[in-house]
Amino acid sequence: MPRERLSVVVTRRLPEVVETRLSELFDVRLRDDDTPMTRDELAAAMRSADVLVPTLTDKIDAGLLAQAGERLRLIANYGAGVDHIDVATARQRGVLVSNTPGVLTDDTADMTMALILAVTRRIPEGLAVMQKNEWTGWAPTALLGGRVGGRRLGILGMGRIGQAVARRASAFGMQIHYHNRRRLRPEIEESLEATYWESLDQMIARMDVISVNCPSTPSTFHLMNARRLKLMKPSGVLVNTSRGEVIDENALTRMIRAGDIAGAGLDVYEHGTQVNPRLRELPNVVLLPHMGSATLEGRIEMGEKVIINIKTFADGHRPPDQVVPAML
Ligand code: DGY
Repeated sequence: MPRERLSVVVTRRLPEVVETRLSELFDVRLRDDDTPMTRDELAAAMRSADVLVPTLTDKIDAGLLAQAGERLRLIANYGAGVDHIDVATARQRGVLVSNTPGVLTDDTADMTMALILAVTRRIPEGLAVMQKNEWTGWAPTALLGGRVGGRRLGILGMGRIGQAVARRASAFGMQIHYHNRRRLRPEIEESLEATYWESLDQMIARMDVISVNCPSTPSTFHLMNARRLKLMKPSGVLVNTSRGEVIDENALTRMIRAGDIAGAGLDVYEHGTQVNPRLRELPNVVLLPHMGSATLEGRIEMGEKVIINIKTFADGHRPPDQVVPAML
């Protein structure tokens, strides 16, 4: 007798090839429009599906998990970060959680470099001059930025993405420093020519650029708080392509306005789309709408990972990218 196909609910629109493949393999319900599901819609999906495929815009907390039906066995997140999912409660309820690590590493690291260059070389200001048709010609002192080569880059969080940033920044001539929960193995440190700082405070005080690449967890919430931001050099630049919650956004805004920090490049915000309006007004701040992993290739590979996780689970095995609370 053919096995019944798993019922899968996808909460957001995904690239067409991913949706097509999901439909071929599973009894899938896709989203018609690209708005996030409401809490009620999510609860209804979790009551009826075997597998939920959410994204970072869906908050799957203990309250929602309590409403999940008996059938729900897997939350196959479309994305690497799982800070929007209460993984511990899911586990207690026998619901596995998987994610899509690795496939967005290079794209996110590229975007980190783009932000470092955009802020230090004042790219948006140059673009604005051109778009407003205000360019009067080359001038020896116009729009002078700073050279990235030779600057000290402090990477906060030296996982896959942090290391990919290190490789790129090193090719640009930057000196690589890092702080991480665990020190890297000596051979990796050596290949990256990276200097480890056990003390985050001491690292911050000595860097020209800080890049946030750690996940959002209770222990990284406001890791860059007002006290630590004050340790930065006044010429320092802060870049974040990870999660907004790691930085106290109001403190950062105040300090950039006061000239205590030279600039920032942000792809993520503490309160999602509610970006501090004062940040938008600052010429030395480059803001992007969470585009770090936004390449078609990356988003298709994320979909492939989701499919592999569901299929492996359907075949009675542990999804290769299962997330367990101890990893967080
Ligand atoms: C993720 O997958 O968590 C990323 O933030 C998406 O860009």
